[in-house]
Amino acid sequence: MNILITGGCGFIGSNFTRYILKKNENVRVVNLDKLTYAGNPANLVDLASHYPDRYQFVKGDIGDKVAVQKIFDTYDITWIVHFAAESHVDRSIIGPEVFLHTNIIGTFTLLEAALGCWPLEDPEQLKGRRFLHISTDEVYGSLDESGYFTEKTAYDPSSPYSASKASSDHLVNAYYRTYGLPTIITNCSNNYGPYQFPEKLIPLMIHNALKGIELPVYGDGENVRDWIYVEDHCEALLEVLEKGDPGERYNIGGNSERRNKEVVLLICNELDKQLGLINDRPRKDLIRFVSDRPGHDRRYAIDGSKIREELGWEPAVSFEEGIRLTIEWYLQNPEWVEGILNGSYREYYRKQYGGRLSEQES
Ligand code: NAD
Ligand code: TYD
Repeated sequence: MNILITGGCGFIGSNFTRYILKKNENVRVVNLDKLTYAGNPANLVDLASHYPDRYQFVKGDIGDKVAVQKIFDTYDITWIVHFAAESHVDRSIIGPEVFLHTNIIGTFTLLEAALGCWPLEDPEQLKGRRFLHISTDEVYGSLDESGYFTEKTAYDPSSPYSASKASSDHLVNAYYRTYGLPTIITNCSNNYGPYQFPEKLIPLMIHNALKGIELPVYGDGENVRDWIYVEDHCEALLEVLEKGDPGERYNIGGNSERRNKEVVLLICNELDKQLGLINDRPRKDLIRFVSDRPGHDRRYAIDGSKIREELGWEPAVSFEEGIRLTIEWYLQNPEWVEGILNGSYREYYRKQYGGRLSEQES
């Protein structure tokens, strides 16, 4: 079985690629990735030699019709697992245009290719094919102190990122309803774990706390996210691919709501415990409350009852355990982090935080 994974060199895509190749010997993965700043070939560097016949990398843009068509002409694709996206809210505030190109036009291009190539008139040939669109809980907007996002919650996105994801979700749904393309959408909460780009909250705080750099918490730090360990997300996606019904949507959450302040404190305490104090001070002294993100959603929380009741899936890794595993991974892979802290990321960091990423920088 051939699986087209888009964005396989990013955080979740690389974790899923590893997961599926290990889990199922009968699959071949074709990974289409443009290698933007977030796409890192180092995430999958060992796969070509480990799985010479089962892993194929194609560098290209999901919005490039010719490149996408060539993949469909070369391989009989059974599953499309679509991760590729511009994924960072703060970057979407600084420069939204690329979010519209990749997240909306890119998704449209993939839908069109699948529509043109899949045998929609032949139920026998179509059976088992899936276009899985990986989306986010951010499309639902912000919750107050109570309540949860269900699959029926109305879309109400706040940022250019979430608005572009919402738009792509609508297109995916339309291709199911209008053309019968066997699509499924998953809306997942905040992921964390190995290979996450250090611009996101958890790896950013781990990195800065390791180096003794200030820890920038937006606003009052009371915003809540529902954190899921990335391997739990990968497992849920495979359940959805194998057992989910076309036209359906599934919310995926981690059952781990935490305030940002709590998350940062946990990382500080865990690092102090493992490595000792930094410059004779606890790392929590590095916390700084900085200007809030414009349009900052207050709280996200997933009602995971549909996927639990219909597909029998629920998250297995507790937040405390997941944070320990994540810190362990970052401590064991310093060269991976150093490889990312290149010119373009340093430039972004200065622009976003007005500060430096290391003591050595002038
Ligand atoms: P990421 O930013 O780490 O990786 C994105 C990948 O897509 C990179 O490898 C990048 O090179 C590639 N890419 C970007 N534009 C492309 C294009 N035009 N053509 C081909 N490849 C392109 O993202 P992530 O955190 O791994 O998120 C993956 C998906 O999951 C996204 O669709 C995101 O919206 C969704 N999601 C993420 C989270 C999260 O917490 N990270 C939560 C829910 C949903
Ligand atoms: P982030 O990891 O960017 O994910 P998302 O915006 O998709 O939820 O941010 C998670 C939370 O952490 C969010 O409430 C914003 C906050 N945050 C900070 O307080 N400081 C930071 O430097 C970053 C990157 C995020």
